[in-house]
Amino acid sequence: MKTNEIRQKYLEFFQGKGHTIVPSDVLVPKWDKTVLFTPAGMNQFKDHFLGKVTLEYTRATTSQKCLRTGDIENVGRTAYHHTFFEMLGNFSFGDYFKREAIHWAWEFLTDKQWLAINPNQLTVSVYLDDDEAANIWHNEIGLSLDRIARLGEHDNFWPAGAPTDGPDGVCGPCSEIFFHPENGPECEIWNLVFTQFNRQGDPPNNLIPLPNKNIDTGMGLERIAATMQGASTNFHIDTLRPIVDAAAAVVGVKYDPLSENGRRLRRIADHVRACTMAIHENVYPGANKEEYVIRRLLRRAVLQGHEMGLREPFLFQIVPEVIAQMSQPYPELRSTADRVAQVIKNEESNFFGSLDDGLAKIESIFSAMQTAHETTVRGAEAAELYQTFGIPAELFAGIAEDRNLKFDWPGYQAAMDQHGVTSGKGSKGVMGDFGPIDDIKRELKSTEFLGYESTSATGLVRGLVQQVAETKGPETNWLQRRQSELAVQTPDAAAAEQFVVLDRTPFYAESGGQVGDSGFLVGPAGKFAVTDTQKNGDVFVHLGHVTEGVIRDGERVSAVVDEQRRDAIRRSHSATHVLHYALQQNLGEHAQQRGSKVVEDALRFDFSNLTAVSPAHLSAIEKLAIAKIEAGGAVAAEILPLEQAKQAGAMMLFGEKYPDPVRMISIGDFSKELCGGNHVKEIGDVLSFEIVSEESVSSGTRRIQAITGAKAIENQRRIIAAAIRITENLSVTLPEIPMAVAALAEQVKLLKKQLTLGKESSSVGNRPASVVARNSTEIAVEGSNYFAIREIMRTAAGRLNVPVLELADRVAAMQAETQALQKRLEQLNAAGEINVDEMIEKAEIVGDFKLIVAELPGIDPNQLKPLVDQIRKKINSVAVFFATSQGADKVLLVAGISRDLVERGLSAGDWIKEVAPIVGGGGGGKADLAQAGGKDPAKIGSALEAARTFLQGRKYLK
Ligand code: SER
Repeated sequence: MKTNEIRQKYLEFFQGKGHTIVPSDVLVPKWDKTVLFTPAGMNQFKDHFLGKVTLEYTRATTSQKCLRTGDIENVGRTAYHHTFFEMLGNFSFGDYFKREAIHWAWEFLTDKQWLAINPNQLTVSVYLDDDEAANIWHNEIGLSLDRIARLGEHDNFWPAGAPTDGPDGVCGPCSEIFFHPENGPECEIWNLVFTQFNRQGDPPNNLIPLPNKNIDTGMGLERIAATMQGASTNFHIDTLRPIVDAAAAVVGVKYDPLSENGRRLRRIADHVRACTMAIHENVYPGANKEEYVIRRLLRRAVLQGHEMGLREPFLFQIVPEVIAQMSQPYPELRSTADRVAQVIKNEESNFFGSLDDGLAKIESIFSAMQTAHETTVRGAEAAELYQTFGIPAELFAGIAEDRNLKFDWPGYQAAMDQHGVTSGKGSKGVMGDFGPIDDIKRELKSTEFLGYESTSATGLVRGLVQQVAETKGPETNWLQRRQSELAVQTPDAAAAEQFVVLDRTPFYAESGGQVGDSGFLVGPAGKFAVTDTQKNGDVFVHLGHVTEGVIRDGERVSAVVDEQRRDAIRRSHSATHVLHYALQQNLGEHAQQRGSKVVEDALRFDFSNLTAVSPAHLSAIEKLAIAKIEAGGAVAAEILPLEQAKQAGAMMLFGEKYPDPVRMISIGDFSKELCGGNHVKEIGDVLSFEIVSEESVSSGTRRIQAITGAKAIENQRRIIAAAIRITENLSVTLPEIPMAVAALAEQVKLLKKQLTLGKESSSVGNRPASVVARNSTEIAVEGSNYFAIREIMRTAAGRLNVPVLELADRVAAMQAETQALQKRLEQLNAAGEINVDEMIEKAEIVGDFKLIVAELPGIDPNQLKPLVDQIRKKINSVAVFFATSQGADKVLLVAGISRDLVERGLSAGDWIKEVAPIVGGGGGGKADLAQAGGKDPAKIGSALEAARTFLQGRKYLK
């Protein structure tokens, strides 16, 4: 029986037993912070089990895309391990329980109409004390007792070992069904979990019976297919074997199942399939969390190829076969095939680029360890290896294990933390938290959202929560407590947040990238300022503080959204859809949304694109978006069946799970997106739109930031004002700004150079020579508009490498600098050109040596020592002392003594030590050359006098 047929039969069978067929949840459930990937069919029903949502059905059946990496080392080695797999499941939410679950499982497996497995080839296990399940198997199904094993919590509880080890949350004993092939070992094919407890805390007495008993069953599709097809391993079933064969063809080796290469090819097939499914959902290889897992899988697959002699990207060539095999249940895979292959190829090329060097480094680490008789790979070295050569620690650890070496995981973690990099490890799946908000959620189930129609409404307070600080030693923990009323807090508790839950609210809770609303709630005896609104399942939580009086549970309050802020959020949300449209028009359909953040009059939009968007494209995208906004058009929201929305051409994002029916937002006749957010009524109301940046987020993902409405208008005003300020300051026209700014920068550079050389240049004026003075009224650019001005400003800012809005200040600063430099140059010139020969000529004769003591105003301080050298090169028996000032409070002194005088006992260091205190400073140096700083330029005269006197007293040197 083919795999696709088994899946179909399973869903049909349980549909016949009153189950609703629910589509697979996405592989990466962004809504669930406790897991990186969907680990089991039950994951999408966690809140159903806990009674936290209104149930639309009490029986469901699914074929769920899952990904687990816990047993990754076994993939390819054993017959049944995978990373990606599909899990068939049937679920009961407080409806049927053990009896039906067991009877139906047996019927599906053994009945001629369904899988028709020989009952004699099946055995089962139950939890130690689960007599109820054992009796059903024995008395009702008719299994003899020797075919019913009773096993402990690590085999027959789900999650495994939950009573003792956790996690907290729903759990229960389970019963597993095993298939015994004619030859070969038994294989577990189906796990029936009787979800009947809510684990809370450690044993004993930690299993609280749930009010409603549930069923959660899971049957690995690939395993049951292997069973039905008599395959010795899952990798040989009809949908996987062709992928293994494709891998063999691409690698260029024969697939020999028992060989080491056979294992490698199976690993490659598994990993490419998993990565194809994940990248399709826009989870690209990256540095963190689920993206890191995908990177690890791909790099691990590359390593397998490398071991078989490959040195060029090859995995991407296997993608078409994966899609051929997986597109019957998931036809949408076809539309992203090229993108997926390209992403895989890029990641492969990157890794191949450093793999050889990385492996060589590993070898050198191993041999150094051998020399030092060490048996554990150091974590810090592994962290460095990942950062330098991109070799994930898990790969390194695997290679180490093959050599019987251990791996220092805590050390690795510490080293990565130090680099600020997270390892991408997932957290253990928990079944939900149990704080007071969760209690409210269980009671209320959902908040009615009124915010599409209005921004103010009345609602009933259904729960109040106060954050309280609990101080234990030096640490402060924040706890949440349910309250019957909330009051104004003392100022020192102001950091603690308060939460209000209403039965209905106009406040939008953060979701779909749109931020939560702010505003206030007014009750009969108090007022609550809402700073943010967040969702917990379907319950909306208003976060903020009581600002007056008290808010009590059960009260009716008016909820008033900050309308001005909401309007600004509407503008940017609608603009996000226009931008999405413009991106696709200009870059192609692959430029799909990968994430967004919509705040008041500003938006951040991440999308798939492998390279940077060129300035020409970016400008075309901006132009098109603006044209669409200016042309106007109605923005309409409509609730319709998902299928109908698809037909209407609504943009669907892969990896996004949509409700059915869905809400579709149409703008004019050009944009249709499924969206739960708030929008303007008419697209022209966005008022203004401007792209402010385009950058990379991670490989294959780009980010555009844009502004709208009031923010965009204010930005335009500031850029125009800055442009005018520059034209006035530099007396140029707008188009001349870039050139004038560059000329000014050039002038500063030139002046600095002249000062260093100590020479005046006739070309130095007080403004760029190339720019002709103009009247400031002549600033208009012919036919100019804001975007032309922005372009001019961007070009000019680019020349100085400053942000556009800092350009005017930078220009002003450069003008001030020019003036200061010119002044110094003038001083220097006034002091006359420094002529070494003349100085020597005019030197004072002290005994049998020459003494040169002088102030050199305006000289570049760096020139003092070279000047001393010049003099010493020209004559012997000379002592030189120079002083100069810099600004109002800095003095620099330099003393130099020729070598023969040093030999006769003179010291520049002693000399300067004597003099420096006079100018309020200190310093020293060697006998031949010394330098000192000071603070008082007014004392330079007396300092030089003292310098002279000091040496005059030493004229009779030996
Ligand atoms: N949750 C159980 C499992 O994953 C049964 O679906 O095995």
